[in-house]
Amino acid sequence: MGKFHLLANVAVALASPYLRFRDTVQCPIIFDGRVPHNFSTTAFDLADVSPYSTQYVKGENLTWSQIILLPNASSSRFDTLGVHRPLEVTINDHSLFRAGQRLQTGFRRAGLLLKNDKNAAGADAADQGVVTFHWSVKQDASKPLNLSHEYMNVWHEKADYSGNQFTFVGGVVLPADGGTGVDTPEEKNTWRIQDSKNKFLFCTPILGDAWQNFAVQLDYTNNTIQIFYSPGNKPLKDVTGQIPNDNAGGGQLQLGIAKKPTETDTVVWDGYQEPMPLGEGQVYAGVFVEDSSDGCISM
Ligand SMILES: *[C@@H]1O[C@H](CO)[C@@H](O)[C@H](O)[C@H]1NC(C)=O
Ligand SMILES: *[C@@H]1O[C@H](CO)[C@@H](O)[C@H](O)[C@H]1NC(C)=O
Ligand SMILES: *[C@@H]1O[C@H](CO)[C@@H](O)[C@H](O)[C@H]1NC(C)=O
Ligand SMILES: *[C@@H]1O[C@H](CO)[C@@H](O)[C@H](O)[C@H]1NC(C)=O
Ligand SMILES: *[C@@H]1O[C@H](CO)[C@@H](O)[C@H](O)[C@H]1NC(C)=O
Repeated sequence: MGKFHLLANVAVALASPYLRFRDTVQCPIIFDGRVPHNFSTTAFDLADVSPYSTQYVKGENLTWSQIILLPNASSSRFDTLGVHRPLEVTINDHSLFRAGQRLQTGFRRAGLLLKNDKNAAGADAADQGVVTFHWSVKQDASKPLNLSHEYMNVWHEKADYSGNQFTFVGGVVLPADGGTGVDTPEEKNTWRIQDSKNKFLFCTPILGDAWQNFAVQLDYTNNTIQIFYSPGNKPLKDVTGQIPNDNAGGGQLQLGIAKKPTETDTVVWDGYQEPMPLGEGQVYAGVFVEDSSDGCISM
């Protein structure tokens, strides 16, 4: 209770258009995935420049400058005007991975990892204390997702890959991941956030042309999760309160597009994927991880 009241007033003040140039991020930043305004796509291939890993997680034979687009979308709530810009992660028929010799034909994926986010339990500041993970999404009408599929687009994966502390999914969620697998308009047009056991804690409709801002706070000491959300440029709102969650296992924030197949048993090796001649994209902005140990959260 009262964890974020400290900054509630600041957030209200920042809603004023006169203060829009100020950074809406008010807490110590652990990892900043926001893209500098003057970046070109080739910057994502340069390890000393990109805020993200230049190696992982992309299809074989692809470079990040082939995967990332820099759309002319408006700034999101947690970008500073003239300082940051949105990026778009894309997938197409070449977004494929190989295990040994064998091509993994079930899913299509392009996933960003924050550059210094280490994959070991408790190895970095985002795996201890109280941490808030922020991201905003927007849809690209020229590269729409096919929401008959499950899209697992953001998650924090345990270092031993045995599960995720939380998962952000859109579209028709497969039964193996806790969904119905039934292709109805309601199932399709929904974002959901799942806990460590894949239980849905929060859902909200996918908006066609507005930013949607999400934040997930993990308290590693007390083993709780708390979700915050706002549409457009509105301040974030607590939408769940603190809920018990298994936050053990450390790991990494994964962010991008992971499009799962339909009619699948294994997700990795089998199932249906329609051809994607134009590719699909997910626009992101305001990606950052902040230290909330002293009760601070950017709203
Ligand atoms: C972007 O601007 C910063 C200073 O604001 C500068 O240091 C950097 O070299 C620029 N990057 C590119 C790719 O132009
Ligand atoms: C990557 O390139 C190699 C060599 O040209 C080719 O054999 C392989 O099929 C390509 N992989 C994909 C997923 O297209
Ligand atoms: C964004 O706008 C600039 C300048 O108008 C243009 O050169 C660029 O191609 C546009 N980018 C996209 C992805 O549409
Ligand atoms: C969307 O996915 C479903 C299930 O794979 C497929 O039947 C349908 O043809 C796809 N739609 C488009 C527009 O590709
Ligand atoms: C975590 O639990 C401790 C001990 O039960 C309690 O004093 C503290 O307020 C809790 N922290 C939060 C953020 O709820």
